[in-house]
Amino acid sequence: MISLKDIYGKYFRIGAAVNENTIVSCKNLILEHFNSLTCENAMKYGNVCDINDNYDFSTADAIYNFACENNIPMRGHALVWHQEIPTERFEKMTPEQLKRRISKHMEIIGERYPKLYAWDVLNEAIDDKHGDFLRDTVWKQKLGNKYYLEVFDAARNKISDVPLFYNDYNEVIPEKCDKIFSLCSELATNGLIDGVGFQCHLNINQHTADDVLRALDKFSGLGVKLHITELDISMIDYDDLTLYDAPTAEMIEKQADLYEGAFKAFRDYSEIIESVTFWCVSDENSWLNYFPIKHKNWPLPFNENHKPKEAFYRIAQF
Ligand code: GLA
Repeated sequence: MISLKDIYGKYFRIGAAVNENTIVSCKNLILEHFNSLTCENAMKYGNVCDINDNYDFSTADAIYNFACENNIPMRGHALVWHQEIPTERFEKMTPEQLKRRISKHMEIIGERYPKLYAWDVLNEAIDDKHGDFLRDTVWKQKLGNKYYLEVFDAARNKISDVPLFYNDYNEVIPEKCDKIFSLCSELATNGLIDGVGFQCHLNINQHTADDVLRALDKFSGLGVKLHITELDISMIDYDDLTLYDAPTAEMIEKQADLYEGAFKAFRDYSEIIESVTFWCVSDENSWLNYFPIKHKNWPLPFNENHKPKEAFYRIAQF
């Protein structure tokens, strides 16, 4: 069997997002194909910490220990996000209290997981709406329009040994890409980031390999590393409520084409790309089976039975 991590060894790491179940159910697939892991949710604020600041690391530890035991490097995801946080509690804090809380959180989690090769410090801060720059979040409301500088500054102080990343989605859409670029340029100028994460949640009907290339090209001059952090290619449009039993031949072909083109683009920029991570391991456990509605989707190169699909062969044979 061809192994993705072996084929791509000279280009970049091949990663997967995992949870406490998939490290068991997909263990063979993980060991065979992946040399990078990310916790799908387990290291997010609300998953390690309750509203009284009591920490429970059991799930994140299980995944971290699995990665360490199998010598698989891990990315940390994510320190500051607008989801999976105690928003109401944060809203009641003064800016100073909120800064202290997040700084302490970084210190605690940084000490707990010292062997990560990247941390997504700030996730999805940019607004999708035309014209607006930052998403309206409790972070922005409390810490102001330059809160991202403070967040990265705190991370630099508390997590000094791990490269720090800004992570976002829709980087393939030019207006959003420009906004992400502008934020990351400011962070880079201030020496506050080491890399940028492109989530790369793609769709067979909405995106092309050229969209991916354009975004990579734009960021190639920034002087920091790129990680593809959450790659998958949805077969179903966001507003399509049809419940498909199986993908059509056309869907399979379109997905394979886009995976092929995207990986060609990644190889072209492999000097700056360090890792390409799929969001989940196989079609069996993709988050897209539950988003935006409960339906079957088939976004990954491995099918529900963990077997390689057409997309896999297009990525693996070039
Ligand atoms: C975003 C987040 C991830 C994850 C996915 C959906 O992209 O960055 O952590 O929540 O959504 O699973």
